[in-house]
Amino acid sequence: MTNDVVGSTGPLVLGIESSCDETGVGIVRGNTLLANEVASSVDQHVRFGGVVPEVASRAHLEAMVPTLERACAAADVDLSELDGIAVTAGPGLMGALVVGLSSAKALASYLGKALYGVNHLVGHVAVDLLDHGDLPTPCVALLVSGGHTQLLLVGDIATDITEIGSTIDDAAGEAYDKVARLLDLSYPGGPIIDRLAAEGDPKAIRFPRGLTARHDLERHRFDFSFSGLKTAVARWVETERRDGREVPVADVCASFQEAVCDVLTAKTVDAALEHGVKHVLIGGGVAANSRLRSLLEERTASAGLQLRRPRPGLCTDNGAMIAAVGTQVIKAGLRPSSMDIGANSGLPVSTVLV
Ligand code: KG4
Ligand code: ZN
Repeated sequence: MTNDVVGSTGPLVLGIESSCDETGVGIVRGNTLLANEVASSVDQHVRFGGVVPEVASRAHLEAMVPTLERACAAADVDLSELDGIAVTAGPGLMGALVVGLSSAKALASYLGKALYGVNHLVGHVAVDLLDHGDLPTPCVALLVSGGHTQLLLVGDIATDITEIGSTIDDAAGEAYDKVARLLDLSYPGGPIIDRLAAEGDPKAIRFPRGLTARHDLERHRFDFSFSGLKTAVARWVETERRDGREVPVADVCASFQEAVCDVLTAKTVDAALEHGVKHVLIGGGVAANSRLRSLLEERTASAGLQLRRPRPGLCTDNGAMIAAVGTQVIKAGLRPSSMDIGANSGLPVSTVLV
């Protein structure tokens, strides 16, 4: 299905994202991506080894208007034609969310347009419609980002999302970032480990697969745990260093990545089969991971499931994914948000629209 066919019509929505360290503004018409501009403050966080909320908020404030201007120029649409302005209302960093929300309110109020405060996590799922057309429903979505790791049953992207499993400790992206730090690699660790792993042996070290033992599966069949894995990697590396051996970084990266991707893909396929669902979708920053993408492709194909994967560039935080949720809630006929909505740093994934 091409976007030209599915997306030549539909609501015209501008989306604003500011939940973490990316200031994103996207413009979407129906299922067609018209603009996707992102300004990242990641360079300002590198020396701290993680996102510093105060620094992120200030960076959003500086980047918001220029990013908005770039998106408008790229889309070449008249903002008076917008059917709505969608903005991330949560979850995320409070001070960061507030910048996007205030900007969206100001713009909506100035233009006299409807405001839609939407869920960031739902954006990671919805974004695939910009690449492959209307979402197949029902589907099981694996959402893997820096702050979240969840398995979702999606009946309708605008109104019916149920969490069927989640991490009980670290998120997958967080595990990548922490392991990168203990290997003295830079931040964010995901893309670096992904690259280094390609030169390593995934079978070099057998790291633990969290919550896959029989007794764990009874209570946590669709849940994840990555903190034991991170500790196992830390201990292994410590031992090598203490004994004066050179740490085989590429092998550690490949073996760690294999442990993460093995569990993520096995549980996703199991969830789809258990719920009698034929379609699987992935989203979130870690969905850009090359091994996760290939292993999930293999395993869904052997289980007779259809897989949808947004292009890697749309997996990490951006404004287009927020605009995509906006088109879906408008199509579903949902009422716009009130102008006095606040940011909700802990917004549950089942709340698509605030
Ligand atoms: O979705 P996202 O951009 O932001 C959040 O909502 O958290 O995800 C960021 C996370 C970071 O932890 C980063 O290390 C990870 O996604 N990530 C990756 C890759 N690209 C980004 N993890 C593994 N492999 C990648 N290629
Ligand atoms: Zn995200």
